[in-house]
Amino acid sequence: MTDHSGTNGGTHGGTHGGTNGETHGAAPLASTLDALRAALGADAVRVGAQISERALTDWTRHEPTRPAALLLPRTTEEVSRALAICHAAHQPVVPQGGMTGLAGGAIARATDIALSLERLSGVEEVDTASATLTVRAGTTLQTAQEAAAEAGFELALDLGARGSCQVGGNLATNAGGNRVIQSGTARDQVLGLEVVLANGDVLSSLGKMVKNNTGYDLKHWFIGSEGTLGVITRAVLRLHPQRAARHTALVALDGYAAAVNLLRRLSTRFGNDIGAFEIMWPDFYDFGVKLTGTRSPFAAAHPLYALIEHASFDSSDGGERFSAALTEALDTGAIRDAVIAQSVADARALWAIRECTAEFPVRLDAINFDVSLPIGEIGAFVERCRAALDQRWPGNASYFFGHIGDSNLHVTVDGHSIAGVDHHAVYAFVYEMLGPLHGSVSAEHGIGLLKREFLPISRSPAELAAMVAIKRALDPHGILNPGKLF
Ligand code: FAD
Ligand code: LAC
Ligand code: ZN
Repeated sequence: MTDHSGTNGGTHGGTHGGTNGETHGAAPLASTLDALRAALGADAVRVGAQISERALTDWTRHEPTRPAALLLPRTTEEVSRALAICHAAHQPVVPQGGMTGLAGGAIARATDIALSLERLSGVEEVDTASATLTVRAGTTLQTAQEAAAEAGFELALDLGARGSCQVGGNLATNAGGNRVIQSGTARDQVLGLEVVLANGDVLSSLGKMVKNNTGYDLKHWFIGSEGTLGVITRAVLRLHPQRAARHTALVALDGYAAAVNLLRRLSTRFGNDIGAFEIMWPDFYDFGVKLTGTRSPFAAAHPLYALIEHASFDSSDGGERFSAALTEALDTGAIRDAVIAQSVADARALWAIRECTAEFPVRLDAINFDVSLPIGEIGAFVERCRAALDQRWPGNASYFFGHIGDSNLHVTVDGHSIAGVDHHAVYAFVYEMLGPLHGSVSAEHGIGLLKREFLPISRSPAELAAMVAIKRALDPHGILNPGKLF
């Protein structure tokens, strides 16, 4: 594992050099904390044992570290005051959302101040005319989804961490999730954004307009920037009409080529009504069945499984067209077997197998990959990757699954099965295979702390230089989430 100690000076491991800006001239921590207490109130500035365990590490469980302090601002104005003080003091600040991130992006060093958005929560407005939801960054995704549903709409973003992750964290990581195939990533849901810059300036652009070509669209710099360019405080999210009919099927397949053929066949027939297309290789599927304590609905084992959701506006046929399409696929040998959920409870049980990843941090010493590569190449990559892992570390336990409809493959290697092997060696081994395919080292979880040195596999020197220039312009003292991303 990478050393996660580091200092105020920004030496957070070996590779990021000066790219996070300068943190020289730091004021003594005690005087910074006094100024923060005066600005936010003593209750909003926690130190030592007052800092809850939750602030020490994220879902990766990577090296829990108690930050120098934890700030709990309640308003955008308080976030602004806090950052202005930290900027003047050259004090590093790490934004923290729901702490469900899978790249270590929200983990603070012992000398950092963590800034939690948990008190800045709540849905401010559902505008039914604009079909928008205005939400504070610390609101959990599930709360935002429920507010949208109550108003007769749908928030298209959905992921397994919905109960804990926050909208701010979703946007800061540009989360993907289960519905990207239908509605795009977190970025695609954003119409307006409010961000506090490193120096405390507030960029409030909470417009509800779909079209706005007035110069640079600044919100996109912050979406996916993993807390390195600003602290997201509020957002206006696009709402979608509710899809009245949702049908979930678990399909057994001959192999990867059959999965891609099925996706194309269903897309041709149903277009944008295919709401999810998740693939599970048997290693993952069997583990998911075991973890959830369920029984596979299939009598036999199969080479591959697809969890498919058909989500349409028209409920009049009761799912018959979807069912007929799967029956036809079965009759022609395009698929081996299929079950269609007959109730919401059935559908949840099928999804639970796929969402067993929520158990990974407690069951496994998870080494997570979330790579992207052209959909047609994923099957061969999985076979090659598995064979190479088996040859390099015989007996390793590895799980292959992913949002294949979005060309996003997840691989999780259980560190317990290769005891003594440094996680870094496993990252390097898999990314080396990915490089020649021009894949991305992160489809959705981000770079954070764990993938910094592998960023150049997916980004050219010119792209990296442009990113560093933006970072320096917006955060000249390098106080925002130093040691992450670069
Ligand atoms: P955190 O973990 O707290 O932070 C993540 C990053 O964002 C950090 O760099 C942090 O500094 C920054 N940040 C947080 N809040 C703010 C803010 N308000 N302003 C600026 N920066 C901020 N991801 C997917 O994309 N697709 C999935 O399908 C998916 N499934 C998951 C399933 C499970 C069970 C789990 C545990 C995670 C999953 N994730 C998935 C990971 C995903 O990135 C996070 O769940 C989520 O988007 C992060 O939100 P968070 O509030 O927990 O952020
Ligand atoms: C998922 C997380 C790991 O897709 O991204 O379950
Ligand atoms: Zn995922």
